[in-house]
Amino acid sequence: MPPRLDLSDVYSPAYRQELHDFKHYIGILLRQIFLRNFVASGRLAQHPAPWFADPANHPTPTAFHFTRRLFEYLADCGELSEVGGHWSPAPTLTDADPEDSNIEAYLNDHPHNRRMYDFLRGVRDVSPRMLFQGEDSLLTMVMDDFHKSMALWEDLMERASVKAPGHDVILRALKQLMASSPLPITVFEGGAGIGAALRFALQDPEFRALSKKIGHYAFTDISLSLIKLGRAWIRRHDPETLADRMTFKVVNLDKMELPEAFLQPQSVNAIVCENVLHDVTDFGYTLNKFHSMLKPGGSLIVTMAFRQRPRDFFMFEFMQSSFHSYFNAKLEPGFRETYGWLTAGDWERSLKRAGFSRIDFYPEEQDMPTWVFGGLVAWK
Ligand SMILES: C[S@@+](CC[C@H](N)C(=O)[O-])C[C@H]1O[C@@H](n2cnc3c(N)ncnc32)[C@H](O)[C@@H]1O
Repeated sequence: MPPRLDLSDVYSPAYRQELHDFKHYIGILLRQIFLRNFVASGRLAQHPAPWFADPANHPTPTAFHFTRRLFEYLADCGELSEVGGHWSPAPTLTDADPEDSNIEAYLNDHPHNRRMYDFLRGVRDVSPRMLFQGEDSLLTMVMDDFHKSMALWEDLMERASVKAPGHDVILRALKQLMASSPLPITVFEGGAGIGAALRFALQDPEFRALSKKIGHYAFTDISLSLIKLGRAWIRRHDPETLADRMTFKVVNLDKMELPEAFLQPQSVNAIVCENVLHDVTDFGYTLNKFHSMLKPGGSLIVTMAFRQRPRDFFMFEFMQSSFHSYFNAKLEPGFRETYGWLTAGDWERSLKRAGFSRIDFYPEEQDMPTWVFGGLVAWK
């Protein structure tokens, strides 16, 4: 079996600062959402605490779950508690940046984060419509201009700095596989979207050199529009003609109607899922399918954030928590306990149940509260 990947250079002081800044500024946005929508509006005073915990009092499941997670986050930070049957904010729960001037100064110094943070400010600004009128915050992205919204999504998926370690997990796991394989390999990517994982990999000279070992790469997603963005980029940036050995196809991981080449069990050396598996409805079903598709010794390479307690985590799933797709999963005690990103424990139990043997987590479990984002390689 290959050795663990070394990601010590990825989990660096610079990345630690990115996470620290994200927690700080997005934490401010979350408090603004709470203060504007629940305190200034009088809703918190008007309703007893259990009222907010009843889905019937919210226009959509997204509004309900978002409210629940926001309250859990503030309670876990010690800034919201139940007093006399009502939620009561602590005096320290204030708006630390009412004019957005601090965040503006930060973004002027860190322009690579501007699009992401601007989008999250947009979610804050449409939050009343999301929470009380049942709109999906993805509407914020649409901005009445489809092309602009696709360009924004493409940029977020490719460059969001907090999720960067996952790209390295995929790059290094594929390089390890290609370097050690005497024969051409077959790779299936699910939820490939705009192709963030391959875009990152194809910028690495070693990966480009090794990519001749890829015999067939299936690039699949549920969205044809995203696949087209991915395919266009790969064709533009791929002098080694990897694109000629790729199949681009719509595949819904909840149905697994696969391209012909993958219909036989044991047909794939590696399966890649960059930040997608938390979106499938029946996690166990998809993992079972993946296990049967893999050749013996094959690997499932997955990236994600590992769920932590709310005060260390909700900022990172703020954007997704305003999308209806984040709450589609079928929950299953012991295996899939929460919507959205899973805990390392749920991953481990679900992968073992599907038949995977060795599982390498990045970062290691004891470091997850610090680094949050990463991935895993699970072996058949
Ligand atoms: C958060 S994005 C991950 C980024 C993506 N890997 C990329 O590079 O663009 C999740 C991706 O999973 C896709 N997706 C969501 N549910 C899916 C499903 N059931 N089957 C296949 N793809 C799905 C979405 O269309 C989206 O492209």
